[in-house]
Amino acid sequence: MKLRLFTLSALAAGLLLGSAAQAQENEPVQPIPAAVVTDPARVELGKKLWFEPRLSRSGFISCNSCHNLSMGGTDNIRTSIGDRWQEGPINSPTVLNSSLNVAQFWDGRASDLKEQAGGPIANPKEMAFTHELAMEFLSSIPEYKAEFKQVFGKADFGIDEVTSAIAAFEETLVTPDSRFDLWLKGDKKAITDQELAGYQLFKNSGCVACHNGPNLGGTSFQKMGLIEPYQTTNPAEGRAAVTGKDADRFNFKVPTLRNVELTYPYFHDGAVNTLTEAVDTMGRLQLGRSFSAEENAQIVAFLKTLTGKQPEIVLPILPPSRDNTPRPVPFGS
Ligand code: HEC
Ligand code: HEC
Repeated sequence: MKLRLFTLSALAAGLLLGSAAQAQENEPVQPIPAAVVTDPARVELGKKLWFEPRLSRSGFISCNSCHNLSMGGTDNIRTSIGDRWQEGPINSPTVLNSSLNVAQFWDGRASDLKEQAGGPIANPKEMAFTHELAMEFLSSIPEYKAEFKQVFGKADFGIDEVTSAIAAFEETLVTPDSRFDLWLKGDKKAITDQELAGYQLFKNSGCVACHNGPNLGGTSFQKMGLIEPYQTTNPAEGRAAVTGKDADRFNFKVPTLRNVELTYPYFHDGAVNTLTEAVDTMGRLQLGRSFSAEENAQIVAFLKTLTGKQPEIVLPILPPSRDNTPRPVPFGS
């Protein structure tokens, strides 16, 4: 008797779950899964390296300088400021949920987070260090040596271990449980009527052709200015820089719309400050459609439901430099 009751309620629960899962399956957008940490020590080391300004020539710039985790994983400026206040070439994309993207960078030139992470340290316009100097710095500090040994199980380490630790930390930078995800999972009260109308418009007018999947983007490269050309003075060519194909000119990785309320300014050149303007531009340039003020406000309201639970980060305390640690060069040559 007891058993039968159990089976019945399990069956009912299963049916309920089943129908919620089915409803979800019919949507072009899926919820962000929570991070699964399999190697906490590696993540912890990666977090230190993420906040480590001594991996830059100036001793002042860390990954967090341009992907500030207090501000949606971006710097909120048009294009980033690099070593010796150099003007960066392109807008800094958010690192939040970037593990879900098919490739990294606007043109997808890095296939994953590990490959990506080696770039900025040695980029003269970003952290302006070299991988050799990075190793010299890290090996001069006994706490780092011990931590690498503990995480990777061997005494010597190189850029490969550095980038895999950073990537492990970045994989934890996901933002589940946005109001929209709660709605997707069956909580119909999680979003308002206006926000729901915005989502319907987002689907029906064709935004989801490009902005789909759990990240509402990051699944493909698409032309910026499909119907009407996009005017910009930024020289970035997009995907063509990687493939060399003319057909890929001005194709960019479709950016995620997760946390988009926090990741202004918008587009690869960072030229647009507000969501209202970004939605208007997308409607006209990508779909040949002019939204009324009411429709625009509905879509913007929907986009703001995509702000998820931000990663809670305890600021790491970094081990001090030693007598033989290379010193920062913040000014001059
Ligand atoms: C000086 C600013 C700056 C610093 C420092 C910096 N980044 Fe970036 N980051 C950028 C910019 C700009 C881009 C986009 C470049 C492009 O697409 O060509 C980018 C792209 C990325 C991306 C790709 C995201 C995506 O969705 O395409 C990741 C991941 C990333 N950076 C991680 C890091 C890590 C890890 C570090 C530290 C080792 C770091 N960044 C340091 C500015 C910076
Ligand atoms: C044909 C593919 C396509 C369609 C359709 C499309 N987008 Fe986009 N969207 C893109 C691409 C590509 C970018 C990046 C363009 C760039 O930065 O130059 C982008 C960028 C954006 C951005 C800025 C994100 C950021 O972080 O910079 C927003 C907001 C946006 N789209 C919303 C929308 C909305 C709303 C719709 C529907 C009205 C829409 N998009 C339709 C491809 C598309």
